[in-house]
Amino acid sequence: MAETVHQEIERLRRELHEANHRYYVLDAPTISDAEYDRKLKRLGEIEAKHPDLVTPDSPTQRVGAAPAERFERVTHRQPMLSLTDVFSTEELAEFDARVRKLLGRDEIEYVCEPKLDGLAIELIYERGLFVRGATRGDGLVGEDVTRNLRTVHSVPLRLLPPADGHVPELLEVRGEVVMLKADFAKLNARREEAGESVFANPRNAAAGSLRQLDPKITASRPLSAFFYEVGETSIDFRTHWEKLQTLHALGLRTNPRNRRCRGLAAVQKYVADIAAQRNDEPYEMDGMVVKVDGEDERRRLGFVSRAPRWAVAYKLPPQEETTVVEAIDVNVGRTGALTPVAHLKPVRVGGVTISNASLHNEGELARKDVRVGDTVLVRRAGDVIPEIAQVVLEKRPHGAKPYPFPTTCPACGSAAVKLEGEAITRCVGMACPAKLREGLLHFASRNALDIRGLGEALATTLVDERLVRQLADIYAIPREKWRTLPRMADKSADNVLAAIEKSKSTTLPRFLNAIGIPGVGEATAKALARAFPTVKALMDADGEALQRVRDVGPALAAEIRTFFQEPQNRRSIERLLEAGVRPQAEEAPQGGVFEGKSLVLTGTLAALSREEAKAEIERRGGRVSGSVSRKTDYVVAGDEPGSKLEKARELGVAVLDEAAFLDKLGKQGRRSGQGHAG
Ligand code: IVH
Repeated sequence: MAETVHQEIERLRRELHEANHRYYVLDAPTISDAEYDRKLKRLGEIEAKHPDLVTPDSPTQRVGAAPAERFERVTHRQPMLSLTDVFSTEELAEFDARVRKLLGRDEIEYVCEPKLDGLAIELIYERGLFVRGATRGDGLVGEDVTRNLRTVHSVPLRLLPPADGHVPELLEVRGEVVMLKADFAKLNARREEAGESVFANPRNAAAGSLRQLDPKITASRPLSAFFYEVGETSIDFRTHWEKLQTLHALGLRTNPRNRRCRGLAAVQKYVADIAAQRNDEPYEMDGMVVKVDGEDERRRLGFVSRAPRWAVAYKLPPQEETTVVEAIDVNVGRTGALTPVAHLKPVRVGGVTISNASLHNEGELARKDVRVGDTVLVRRAGDVIPEIAQVVLEKRPHGAKPYPFPTTCPACGSAAVKLEGEAITRCVGMACPAKLREGLLHFASRNALDIRGLGEALATTLVDERLVRQLADIYAIPREKWRTLPRMADKSADNVLAAIEKSKSTTLPRFLNAIGIPGVGEATAKALARAFPTVKALMDADGEALQRVRDVGPALAAEIRTFFQEPQNRRSIERLLEAGVRPQAEEAPQGGVFEGKSLVLTGTLAALSREEAKAEIERRGGRVSGSVSRKTDYVVAGDEPGSKLEKARELGVAVLDEAAFLDKLGKQGRRSGQGHAG
């Protein structure tokens, strides 16, 4: 029998909730992004026809509601407490001694957890439905950020039905909203590319993203949530460990690093282990939390002022070092953004050597007032991007002058202008060689049109010699001309020409990435290509159609529209198409061998480049991730594999060698002793 509308809606919602939970909470996806999008689109279409059937917990409601004028205040039913900090193993031992004495025990059962550096929140679930979410605020009163939290994928809109079928009447759950380091790096790269101000660190990015009056902006930011405590609830817990187990079973993400530790020695070992792998964790942490496990024991221990006696935060030192600024200069990016960069006396911070730090923009430079010769405190923000935290003023040399930010472009001498309300100063020169050169390099880069051999030196020559004034010119330079360029022997000229010719048959996502639409990187280009089958269709799309694409909010939609409305850009794209560039729409992956699987590549493959391998996997519905975890389905190990292979063995993850991988791809693997079938 055919499904009724009700049944289809319920089925789609169930499937989408499940897919969401598997992707964002368990990190073990079972369906591809494309399939998820198809289901979400279908659900949206039915709901549009039957608006009375839309419920707040529908997966379509994650896109972000209309902007609010202000946040309502929420008084927490139970205050959200803070933690007493300890800074050494001795102080940790004192805490344990205190707890043992108060409870009259020789040994205490603890639960140890990473202390995530984000924003504390509380979510309220009534009969399994997410009804309200608030920030911690001052611990007593926070802000109602329900509409923003609905857009965060690891916040379940409804709880999973527990095994005993008993949905809790009330659950106030507490946790942390964070931005993962990888997401932070990508977001900042995207913002830098689009000429927007960047966030100083993941914590600021998370806090700034959650406290937005327009939920659509929150929806466009990659936020994650982890849960670690419970406020008021109808559930009875005997231990904290049991509580964490229950939260996980209800679909609330808990930290896989949480451990039960019996006695001080086990706690000390945990603290040392986690501290040692701090840089490998996907999130920023500022310490670990050590908590008494038993709920009875917790009640007996009680509180002092605003902190419990049953827990402490073991704080890790921030990863900072001091060094000296040797020079400051200004780079011009593809969008004309002028970025000041400090060149530093090399220094090691948290295991890596730092010799440059971005000062982001004119305002940041002025605010921090970094001068040549200054001693500065450098820090790895999000453990990846080096940042100057502050100047050590006592050490400023006599006569050090503020850096005069250029008012003209250092590359072309055109005016450098900062628009009202913008953080970025930009070169306005239409023919700025720096912009053109960066744009050309991006156009030719691996994930764009992949023109091998077109590197920095050649791009500089092409622009300086005025052979390239816009992107399409690259297809019009005659063979004889190539051969006359410096360092271009006949052979290398032929190679570049072949690569340029090859770049004409490309895919739509690569093409959209290549043309440098502000704010559109690889991932967004893929999403756009899935929604619009041709360049032309995208060029003519209106704001509404653009915003239906995953990850495209109002601001980005406006950027895309502005880009395509600019006659010069349209003309430039037309010229590329006239030159013979043929972007092919990629078919959506369907039911491939890697459908819903997560793969990690390590070592070199003989038959495929890393990019090609990635494309082959994605075409078959799989996802390629950078690090091995328990959630990884396969590690593909080529020649000279790295530590990822060891990790895979340790975790019992299936390993494919090149032959087995090619086999799965349905390509003829070259097996030893078997020869190559022709
Ligand atoms: S438990 C009464 N567990 O640390 C105990 N807090 O200083 C309440 N935090 O506001 C907190 N990770 O923002 C707890 N695993 C964790 C945590 C954690 C981060 C933050 C939280 C809280 C602050 C307390």
